[in-house]
Amino acid sequence: MNLILLGAPGSGKGTLSEFLCEKNGFTQLSTGDLFRENISNKTQLGLEAQKYMNEGNLVPDSVTNSMVENYLKEKAQDLIFDGFPRTDDQALALDNMLEKLNDQIDKVIYLDIDESVLLGRLTGRLICKVCKRSYHKVNRKPLNEGVCDFDGGELFTRPDDQEDKIKTRLEAYHSQTAPLIKFYNDKILKVEAGNCTPEELYNRVVEVMGA
Ligand code: AP5
Ligand code: MG
Ligand code: ZN
Repeated sequence: MNLILLGAPGSGKGTLSEFLCEKNGFTQLSTGDLFRENISNKTQLGLEAQKYMNEGNLVPDSVTNSMVENYLKEKAQDLIFDGFPRTDDQALALDNMLEKLNDQIDKVIYLDIDESVLLGRLTGRLICKVCKRSYHKVNRKPLNEGVCDFDGGELFTRPDDQEDKIKTRLEAYHSQTAPLIKFYNDKILKVEAGNCTPEELYNRVVEVMGA
């Protein structure tokens, strides 16, 4: 089964993916993580993506789609698409890619959240350099300050988690990504993603999926 997680920046896509991978055997395909990996490895793709990401803008569809197409050559089943697709063009491209592989998107989980909580979540976020898990300075503290519970990796703040960049990301979400809720109309499962712990959100998602 292939899932898409659709939701605003900070709605909890990455955190929910951790649970679904650990407990339900999915593999996370986060285009944001793939871009960040390319940036830290200083690849051509990373150099291209960096200028857009650091400003909070979307990376062009052609660049993003071909990165996903390459990934799907290795694995195209039991995936969680986290942060992809984000535009109509990407959604159509994904349908084509999966059709060629005789596969499909089964469900789209839409993380519905009151926007007032997003800024606090994102400005307080910390990420592990090694495993990319998300922590939070207040909501989800690591056991030892500054290091990951799982692998001792150093925790860092993403360059796009600054207030002005977050504003741009939210604008991009509203103008380009939110319309996909209509696009996936027949596959959408809407889940309330605010006012609950990550564990509670995971339980809600499992319930609506009927898994
Ligand atoms: P990406 O990395 O995908 O970022 P995003 O969509 O902005 O989403 P985030 O990762 O910021 O939030 P999240 O929903 O994963 O929340 P998280 O679980 O971490 O993309 C970054 C950039 O890459 C884009 O801006 C763009 O430039 C580029 N890009 C990526 N994909 C692209 C595409 N398809 N096309 C074009 N460009 C693309 O949680 C956030 C915080 O809240 C954490 O601190 C967490 O601990 C905390 N938290 C989580 N759940 C809870 C809870 N239930 N209660 C309290 N706190 C919580
Ligand atoms: Mg994320
Ligand atoms: Zn880690």
